[in-house]
Amino acid sequence: MKQEALPSSPGPIGIFDSGYGGLTILEKIRTELPGYDYIYLGDNARTPYGTRSFEVVYKFTLECVTRLFEMGCQLVVLACNTASAKALRSIQQRDLPLLDPNRRVLGVIRPTVEAVGTMSQTKHIGLLATLGTVQSNSYPLEIDKLHEGISVISEACPMWVPLIENNEHNSEGADYFIRKNVEHLLAADGLIDTVMLGCTHYPLLADKIKSLLPEGVSIVSQGEIVAKSLVDYLQRHPDMDNRCTKNGSVRYLTTESVEKFASSASIFLNQVIQAEHIDLDK
Ligand code: DGL
Repeated sequence: MKQEALPSSPGPIGIFDSGYGGLTILEKIRTELPGYDYIYLGDNARTPYGTRSFEVVYKFTLECVTRLFEMGCQLVVLACNTASAKALRSIQQRDLPLLDPNRRVLGVIRPTVEAVGTMSQTKHIGLLATLGTVQSNSYPLEIDKLHEGISVISEACPMWVPLIENNEHNSEGADYFIRKNVEHLLAADGLIDTVMLGCTHYPLLADKIKSLLPEGVSIVSQGEIVAKSLVDYLQRHPDMDNRCTKNGSVRYLTTESVEKFASSASIFLNQVIQAEHIDLDK
C-alpha cells in the first residue's frame, strides 16, 4: 500500500481481534473512554489464530491493521494476545515506518505484564493462553524483563477459543476441556497463587475457571488492565489523543457473515449488535 493512500485526519480507535474475544477488551475500554469513536474488526472468517504459524498470524494481522488504517484509525489496539505475541513487534518495527510512522499499534501483553508483577505473593504465576501465545514465550520473556524472580507456568488451551467461537462454552464438553487444562496447570506448580487469562476470549470462562481454583488463588482478566493502560497512554500522548475522534460511536466489522457475528457478539456484550461485513481482498 502506498503511504499517501492513508488519510491523515483524526479517526476512530481501531480494536482488532481474530474473532469475538476483543469485544471483552472493547467493552472495558468504552467504560473508561466512552466519548471516543471505535471500529471493532473481528477476523471471524479466519479465526482461530491460536494454532497458526507466526507467518500466517503476522500476515492476517497486518492485513486487518492496514484496513483499519485505511478506514482512518490513527491508533489500533491488537485486542488479541496471539496477534500481540506473534505480529505486534514486526508491525511496529517493520511496517509502521513504511505505512505511516505517526500511527501507533498497541498490544495487550505489555500492559498485562506491567500490572501482574505485584499481584502474586508467591511469585508463581500461571498463564492460560492459546498454543500460539504459549509457544511464543512472550509472557515469560516480558515478565522477566520487568519483574525479578517471578516464575511463569504456561498452559496452552487449544480447544477453548473454538468452543467459545462456536458458542459451546457452556456445554459439558467444554467443562471437560476447561477442567483438564486448569488442573494440568495447577498440578505443574503447587505454588501458583495468580492465574492470568492470557487470551481475550477467556473472560467468558472466568466463572468456570474460578470454580476450579483452590481458595487463595486469584484470577486476572485483561480488560480493565488494558483499558486503564490506554487511558494512561492517551494522557501521556496528547498528540495521539488529538488524532482520535470523540463522538461516542462504535462500528463492528467482521470478515464473516453479519448474522453470525451479531448473534455471537451479543453473547459477549449482552446487547444487540449490528455488524457490517468487510472483505479484506477488496
Ligand atoms: N482472542 C485471541 C487471543 O487473545 C484468540 C486467539 C485465537 O484466535 O485463537 O489470543
